[in-house]
Amino acid sequence: MTLHNLIQIADLAKYEGQEITLRGWVYDRTDKGKLQFIQLRDGTGIAQCVAFKKDMDETEFANASKLSQESSLVITGTVRKDDRAPGLPGGYEVGIKTLQLVHHAEDYPITPKEHGVEFLMDNRHLWLRSSRQWAILRIRATIVHELRNWLDDHGYLLVDTPIITPAAGEETTTLFQLDYFGEPAYLAQTGQLYNEANMMAFGKVYCFGPTFRAEKSKTRRHLIEFWMLEPEMAFFSLEDLMDMEEQLLSHVVKAVLAKHQRELAILERDLNKLEQITAPFARISYDEAVERLQKLAAETQDPEQKALLAIEWGSDFGSPHETAIAEMFDRPVFVYHYPTAVKAFYMQPVEGRPEVCRSVDLLAPEGYGEITGGSERIYDSELIEQRVATIGLPREAYAWYLELRKFGSVPHAGFGLGLERTVAWICGLPHVRETIPYPRILNRKYP
Ligand code: 4AD
Ligand code: MG
Repeated sequence: MTLHNLIQIADLAKYEGQEITLRGWVYDRTDKGKLQFIQLRDGTGIAQCVAFKKDMDETEFANASKLSQESSLVITGTVRKDDRAPGLPGGYEVGIKTLQLVHHAEDYPITPKEHGVEFLMDNRHLWLRSSRQWAILRIRATIVHELRNWLDDHGYLLVDTPIITPAAGEETTTLFQLDYFGEPAYLAQTGQLYNEANMMAFGKVYCFGPTFRAEKSKTRRHLIEFWMLEPEMAFFSLEDLMDMEEQLLSHVVKAVLAKHQRELAILERDLNKLEQITAPFARISYDEAVERLQKLAAETQDPEQKALLAIEWGSDFGSPHETAIAEMFDRPVFVYHYPTAVKAFYMQPVEGRPEVCRSVDLLAPEGYGEITGGSERIYDSELIEQRVATIGLPREAYAWYLELRKFGSVPHAGFGLGLERTVAWICGLPHVRETIPYPRILNRKYP
């Protein structure tokens, strides 16, 4: 077997007229007797490879005629331009000279016919091979790359935070408890508290890693294990935070548009919607959002919709509220100054109006809901001590965090971006379950 000129399918066009080697898996095959049209995928793309009886060794052609879906192969052949050739990217095909069967796949459970979601989720380890998943996970990788690129280029330092923690970072109701050599410990819900210590050492930092929440409800937006990118900046105000977030996100969307036309086409994403994502984003206060929702509810005829939109000042938004607010704008919208009571203990109260806090959530358009949540942090030592005591958090576990307010405390702000919700929005997916290779959702941890 020769691996002469082993190439990737993504680069096929560069090798027109040349003899090349491809390695991969059978995505599909059409049998035309003396001609076998094999759609070969290698992870970078799909190429039509044509086995023609008279050009090949008899046994090898016989093998080609029996290939099952997902069988693995090494082929050599010549690249020809053919505008009709299907594939990813397509437009070129390979005339097969030699074909080595590496493994003949058993009956593959995922066929081009429709499958139910539960079946596909049970077969997630195989489902990843389909074009749609290929498109989503490649876009996910680019989103991560571009988020990090932007931060690295703008003076932010990546500083990792621990996954095993002695105390809660967010709501204690969603904690995953572990046995840490006889003592309780928890899986991180956020890297934020450590980020604040790191920010005091490095100025502008970010962490990016898996975070865990024992969410007992099954929704389209919640995972048990999800990835969060969390920047934290010294001397940043809420306005600085919004300025930075809109720069970061519009950069990411622009980069995805530039790099992934093919993937977005597979996903049938409405590109106009993404092209509108340019800074500045809309900004409204929680007060204004509630007023707008109340007005909308009053004008709504449908009683069911009316009930969903109903809201009193002081309540947190549910997804119908977030969707309705987002629909009022053609780009993402920041909602700032939420009621202190519905937000985390560390958020800075608004001066002269402590019932609201210096928090900001970013709502994505088209009903994708909250993709980032952040705030200015309390930096006054007494106030943070008070909050910890009022909420009843165990002071010993937070002693180090409280101490940050004693040595050169500064105003600071940060946010967390939910990667999977961002991927769902950019890819236009109705559910977060396809945005992560192995989703952990209520009642599912297999495969
Ligand atoms: O709003 P959250 O809970 O904020 C924090 O954890 C802060 N400590 C972050 C910070 O300021 N450094 O979560 C941040 C984002 C949400 O906006 C959402 O996008 C995502 O994380 N998120 C989830 N994504 C998927 N499944 C879940 N269960 C999620 N919970 C939060
Ligand atoms: Mg939030």
